[in-house]
Amino acid sequence: MTTSRVRCPAAEDTIAAGFALGKKLRPSDVVLVSGSLGSGKTTFVRGLVRGYGLDCPVTSPSFALIHVYGTGERQVVHVDPYRLGGAADVEGIGLSDYLDTDAVVVIEWPERLGPMGSPWRVSVTIAADDRDVRHIQIRRRGMAARSRSDL
Ligand SMILES: Nc1ncnc2c1ncn2[C@@H]1O[C@H](COP(=O)(O)OP(=O)(O)OP(=O)(O)O)[C@@H](O)[C@H]1O
Ligand SMILES: [Mg+2]
Repeated sequence: MTTSRVRCPAAEDTIAAGFALGKKLRPSDVVLVSGSLGSGKTTFVRGLVRGYGLDCPVTSPSFALIHVYGTGERQVVHVDPYRLGGAADVEGIGLSDYLDTDAVVVIEWPERLGPMGSPWRVSVTIAADDRDVRHIQIRRRGMAARSRSDL
């Protein structure tokens, strides 16, 4: 497991941190993004999606619960179960279908979702200090690239 930390004084820095991670992602990776309300999770995902090579608008899936970006072999599935307040599970929100595909799955508020069934490879935690500077911690597990069904 490797851990890195980035200091992000501005939203552009949060996007850049997401972009850098997105460039390193592989198909089927599961990325958890934790942090309190308004800490910058969706902003981070915006950079991540671009870093993964997709040029499309990223918006908060707080109502739809799941947004899918891209097509075919290069997809990012963006999940936000916040409004379900802890009553969500992977199957109930329709996430299990995606977990068996090559799509990168990125989950805001992962603590509100039941057991994933798929191990996460990257866990991101965003915290704001008293000057509103965001500190982003990224933990990466060094799993071999293989499909989720092999795990
Ligand atoms: N490093 C930063 N410095 C200052 N502002 C930031 C930073 N990163 C993000 N923001 C701003 O914080 C606000 C909230 O961002 P965002 O919607 O990404 O948060 P979130 O964690 O996804 O919120 P929610 O909990 O509602 O899902 C936005 O206005 C965004 O521009
Ligand atoms: Mg959000």
